[in-house]
Amino acid sequence: MEKIRLDFNNMLKEYVGDDGLTISEIDALSEKVASSHKALAEKRENGGTDWRDLPYNQTDVVEDILSYVGGIKDDIDAFVVLGIGGSALGPTAVQQAINHPYYNELPRDSRGGYPRFYVADNVDPEKLVYLFQVIDVKKSLFNVISKSGSTSETMSQFMIIKDLLEKELGKEEAKKHIVCTTDKEKGNLIKIAKDEGYKTFIVPSGVGGRFSELSPVGLLPAAFCGIDIKKLLEGAAFMDELCKNPDVYKNPAYMYGLLHHIALSKGKNVSVMMPYADSLKYISDWYAQIWAESLGKKFDKNKHVVNVGPTPVRALGVTDQHSQVQLYTEGPFDKVIVFITVDKFKETITIPKIFEDIKSVGFLGGVTQNQLIQVEQVATEYALNRAGKVNLTISLPHVDEHTLGQLLYLLEVATAFSGELLDINAFDQPGVEEGKNATYALFGRPGYEEKKAEIDSRAPKNDKYII
Ligand code: PA5
Repeated sequence: MEKIRLDFNNMLKEYVGDDGLTISEIDALSEKVASSHKALAEKRENGGTDWRDLPYNQTDVVEDILSYVGGIKDDIDAFVVLGIGGSALGPTAVQQAINHPYYNELPRDSRGGYPRFYVADNVDPEKLVYLFQVIDVKKSLFNVISKSGSTSETMSQFMIIKDLLEKELGKEEAKKHIVCTTDKEKGNLIKIAKDEGYKTFIVPSGVGGRFSELSPVGLLPAAFCGIDIKKLLEGAAFMDELCKNPDVYKNPAYMYGLLHHIALSKGKNVSVMMPYADSLKYISDWYAQIWAESLGKKFDKNKHVVNVGPTPVRALGVTDQHSQVQLYTEGPFDKVIVFITVDKFKETITIPKIFEDIKSVGFLGGVTQNQLIQVEQVATEYALNRAGKVNLTISLPHVDEHTLGQLLYLLEVATAFSGELLDINAFDQPGVEEGKNATYALFGRPGYEEKKAEIDSRAPKNDKYII
């Protein structure tokens, strides 16, 4: 199996100059690395990081998913995910990485006989109405994904669609068009699913939203897109072996986390993820959530106010060379740029040898677009180095389920390890819950009266400041 690689040369002083890190700085944290490794190993042992076992303990789940998909896929034209955050970003990232970029426009047999794929994450009335204009709900399967079973965005979509399906198909037939993915006992979705008799897949209780891509949250949508979910899990298991290593020089996830940690302590609080492959564009979206929601915290584990957290930024090479790279090169020294590169693309396209007498374009003749994107990445890396800006590169030999499983797992462990280095809880999200609770209160949900009173007592806005 081909391994993905982490190249951190350009994080170091010898390559980027004064603003780079040193090996002594890395080695000076060896005790912190050891204690963070121990803490993670203990968490794993005590069931505190159940997402780490997903590559190993889902044989029956995978069989159930594959048999369900096999039995229903020919009857549906569209598979629609109803979910948000950790229940939508992973399914989107994996589908976009593996499938054809114009997947839904392909004829069905070019999609391997699988249905079209949509994700209705946001609550935007236009988007949902427009979705109904391009799918036939009677020939669609809706996957309601909510670990908590109470997220307003997802539940609102589910309620609209349930009602629509029942009007179009009748109550009994409508049931066949809904499949739920949720916790096995917590929240209302599991209760509704049981009452209604919906097919249901379980998110293991110790697996949080943003760490759930390798659970049925991500596996079911992936399987409905013809993606090899066994290989995805094999890739994650392969990376897990590397991530068990306490030696930071042999463990890419630990090194990724540690370099960011040292950089953060030197004021580099922005982590830009810039894949040089359209297929990996949505990996940055998924990363932005896991990095931000896990590491942005007010309190450390001892309840001291720390207000820490690096800011993830999404970029795409080469597109953002023409948008953001000016800032990265000449702006403040506050960023770590993470390139993701692909050695071998699935396709090759050669630029024809025309305009040979026009110097500014003639040199492109005979070059492949594969070379162009790779050379542009090297050129951007060079420009950053020259400007003294730290950067690192994760390289995938090619994009397939195995390398993608490796990448997702590496970034998950890197996030958890960074949480230990920062001494914060990477697995909660009180800041998100606060917004969720305020929404419930503003709608007058029973049990949220105190929160409603608190919100109502806030200072009214001053018209003077609205111009
Ligand atoms: O990582 C998280 O916990 C969140 O981003 C959740 O995934 C998101 O809020 C959706 O929650 P749920 O799956 O409970 O609907």
